[in-house]
Amino acid sequence: MWRRPRAPTPAAIVVALVTLVACGGGGPADHAAPAPEAPGPRGASIYALRCAPCHGPEGGGDGPAAASIDPKPRNFRDAAFWHGRTAEQLRLVVRQGKPGTLMPPFEGVLSSAEIDDVVGHLESFRPAS
Ligand code: HEC
Repeated sequence: MWRRPRAPTPAAIVVALVTLVACGGGGPADHAAPAPEAPGPRGASIYALRCAPCHGPEGGGDGPAAASIDPKPRNFRDAAFWHGRTAEQLRLVVRQGKPGTLMPPFEGVLSSAEIDDVVGHLESFRPAS
C-alpha cells in the first residue's frame, strides 16, 4: 500500500513559521529603552520581519508562506480590504490574531507602540482611491 513519505507537510511548515514569527526574537521586554526612532522605518522593519512571510513584502498577500495557507493572508493592496476598516480594528486584529485563520496574535510579542507602528505601515500599502 502506498504511504505518504514522511516529509514535512505544508501545514507543519506553516506552524513552524508561525511559531518563528510570533515567538522568535526578543519580546518587547528585551529592549525596554525608549525607542526614539521615527515610526515609519520601525513599522517597516517590523513588517518585513513579522508580517511579510505571509502578507508579502509589498503587502499583496503573497508571502512565501501564503501558498499553503487557507484562508489566504490579506492583500493590503486591495482597495476592498480598506473599505470600512479603521486603524483601531486593525490594531485589535494584530493584538489578538484572527480566530479560524492563521493570523497570529502579536500581543506580548510586539509592544503596543510597535503594533501602532506596524499598523501605520500597512497604510502605506493602501491603494489611492
Ligand atoms: C502566518 C501567517 C501570518 C502572519 C505572520 C501575519 N498574518 Fe496577518 N493574516 C494572516 C491571515 C491568514 C489572515 C486572515 C485573512 C482572512 O481573514 O481571510 C490575516 C489577516 C490580517 C489582517 C486583516 C484582519 C481583518 O480585519 O480581516 C491584518 C490587519 C493583518 N493580518 C495584519 C498582520 C500584521 C500587521 C502582521 C505582522 C505583525 C501579520 N498580519 C502577520 C496571516 C498572517
